[in-house]
Amino acid sequence: MSTAAKDLDAFWMPFTANRDFKSKPRVISGASGHHYTTEDGRRLYDTFSGLWTSGVGHCHPKIVEAVQKQVASLDYCMTFQVTNNKAIELAHRVTSMAPAGIDHCFFTNSGSESVDTALKIALGYHRARGEGNRTRLIGRERGYHGVNFGGMSVGGILPNRKAFSANLIPGVDHIRHTHDIERNAFTRGLPKHGAELADDLTRLCALHDGSNIAAVIVEPIAGSTGVLPPPVGYLERLREICDTHGIVLIFDEVIAAFGRLGTGYGAQRFGVTPDIITTAKGLTNGVIPMGAVLVRDSIYDAFMQGPENMIELFHGYTYSGHPVAAAAGLATMDVYDEEGIFEQSRNLEQQFEDLLHSFADHKHVIDVRNYGLMGAIEMSPRPGAPGARGGEAHKKCFWDENLVVRNGMDILQFSPFLNSNPDEMEASFAAVRRVLDSIE
Ligand SMILES: Cc1ncc(COP(=O)(O)O)c(C=O)c1O
Repeated sequence: MSTAAKDLDAFWMPFTANRDFKSKPRVISGASGHHYTTEDGRRLYDTFSGLWTSGVGHCHPKIVEAVQKQVASLDYCMTFQVTNNKAIELAHRVTSMAPAGIDHCFFTNSGSESVDTALKIALGYHRARGEGNRTRLIGRERGYHGVNFGGMSVGGILPNRKAFSANLIPGVDHIRHTHDIERNAFTRGLPKHGAELADDLTRLCALHDGSNIAAVIVEPIAGSTGVLPPPVGYLERLREICDTHGIVLIFDEVIAAFGRLGTGYGAQRFGVTPDIITTAKGLTNGVIPMGAVLVRDSIYDAFMQGPENMIELFHGYTYSGHPVAAAAGLATMDVYDEEGIFEQSRNLEQQFEDLLHSFADHKHVIDVRNYGLMGAIEMSPRPGAPGARGGEAHKKCFWDENLVVRNGMDILQFSPFLNSNPDEMEASFAAVRRVLDSIE
């Protein structure tokens, strides 16, 4: 038995069927570029860029070097009351790429922490302006905002909420999701139908009174639920309704930021500017855990009042702005710029779309969705066994085709490298087709 497999029992794996997994573990021990390697020397192509994280490829030499240097020169420095040069530099870097008026950045260690930070900032902002009655938070059905109590509560994915139903934070409501397979199946890019679903927010404003709502949080394009691009006009409509009622609009861009949609932030691709943007993943290419919450100036300014010797926001993490993570972030931003990664990502979109939609005729497939370099192939569930077909496809890809493919139930999700090699991308989809052909 390999070292990794022998020790596995102690490891309670996240979002994994532990017993099933441990009966035949899939253990990775190395990575380089677009491939993983296993202890027994197999080489697997990664169709998911880590977990939507590693857009420029694994072990990018420039990021590796920056991390190695940093850990040997300043390994840790708190950012409470003193700070470090790398965190300052990275805050400047990520805000200078952001839409105009979003010039402040709060560091976290993950997407979940970015979301809970954003919710707290929105609540604190209203309170600082004397509107402390604005306490209600609105999420969306099928939304994924991580696993902490705030993010889980505004999230809308049933299995993530079910066991904690009585413990979700109070004062949360949800607008309807935008998935409409009847009208929009097999749409390439943004679906035509459904902008009116944003008006569900107006319904909640009528129910609770808009003056009681602090914030609305949505993924501008839903990812983890199985890639649901927003209908044409939907995000614009949400923005309008938030403006009408003075509600803070939060885009959760933990997936959408940093090139996945061919731009620095999804907001820029969609041409809709929220008040707060949450990020993580591509901030450091997944190399060191880190998140960042980008905040509109008017929100930051609202906190900057009262006695100057007082802390304005009682919030922060031991590792907020960790210098090694920040060094990884800076090197990642350099790679994005120097290698024209966002442009490369845009140039791959058409091929990616065509490859995904070539599955439209497959007997198991009931929908294909894509936008930017995010895509999903949705299969019909096996009667009485939802998720079985997707799970089997994942395992067959791994064992028979040397391919890492992510499935969420019966939806195969794809997040190709932003600098994918077109031939490798094509070969990976040919392998996926062989697998789908081979399963019942
Ligand atoms: C939109 C969104 N928000 C939040 C998260 C949570 O991020 P993390 O797993 O880093 O806590 C994710 C993770 O996939 C995500 O996709």
